[in-house]
Amino acid sequence: MTKPKILITGANGQIGRVLTEELRKVYGTEAVLATDIAKLPVTIEPFEFLDILNAQRLKEIVEDHQITQIYHLAAILSANGEWNPIKTWNINLNGLLSILELAREKSLDKVFFPSTIMVFGNTTPRIDTPQDVPLLPSTVYGMSKATGELWCNYYHNRYGVDVRSLRYPGIIGWQSLPAGGTTDYAVEIFHAALKEGKYECFLEEDTKLPMMYMDDAIKATIDLMRVDKKNLTIRYGYNLAAMSFSPKEIAAEIRKHIPQFEITYKPDFRQAIAKTWSESIDDSQSREDWQWKPSFDLSTMTVDMLHHLRQTIL
Ligand code: SER
Repeated sequence: MTKPKILITGANGQIGRVLTEELRKVYGTEAVLATDIAKLPVTIEPFEFLDILNAQRLKEIVEDHQITQIYHLAAILSANGEWNPIKTWNINLNGLLSILELAREKSLDKVFFPSTIMVFGNTTPRIDTPQDVPLLPSTVYGMSKATGELWCNYYHNRYGVDVRSLRYPGIIGWQSLPAGGTTDYAVEIFHAALKEGKYECFLEEDTKLPMMYMDDAIKATIDLMRVDKKNLTIRYGYNLAAMSFSPKEIAAEIRKHIPQFEITYKPDFRQAIAKTWSESIDDSQSREDWQWKPSFDLSTMTVDMLHHLRQTIL
């Protein structure tokens, strides 16, 4: 097998920043090309600007760098997506279609498409949500990801494109901040606890949602992309789970380490979005097909988050 040459879109996003670094550890810095529409103050080369709607530029980059795999992370998230539904649809779906077309035309080895628990909605059982359920997402972000999953499945079945996908829960990490998601509170709360000793939460105290520590999300992504394709039975998004908690529960966990920490609640429009999602996810197909197993729960994640943030933001 030839050495992979990887392109990441949305490399400066919450997951992209960490995934780029991890993939560079695995495959070497030069083997992983980071792309994004925005440049960070400190960017590790190799890096190219890329607006995901510029299909011509995308093609040039794939050709110039002899790309063999794409991790397509560029997207607008659930809460921000509601401010401009048509733009969100355009970026989230048309970006993916350009990537799938390119994968077909150039016979790329593999494509990764991040889906989300936000594909679920009011027609989905909310506890231990099974892999295959009716999907009626409430946000344009969820609609674009549910439709994206169908396109991934189609490109695999029709053209043999080796596309792999995970339905991520809310992702929590110390390395980067999310931008415009409904689960963002679970990252903000750690920063606020350490810096201010208090946090005003935009969800109600009992809103329980599926979540995952960044280390587990990155491991799941790399493991799924490395497993032998004959093990895979799903080419839309695999359900993926690690832990579920409410704002009240994570606040209580943080208080074990910062006893004076205070949380108040001022729910906004994101509460209505969160209300339609699952509380917990059945990820048995991932466990069976590619031996998925998370390492972090609420308590071990809280210890690790506070440890790293104390060293980086204080
Ligand atoms: N967790 C992110 C959000 O809340 C993306 O799936 O939008």
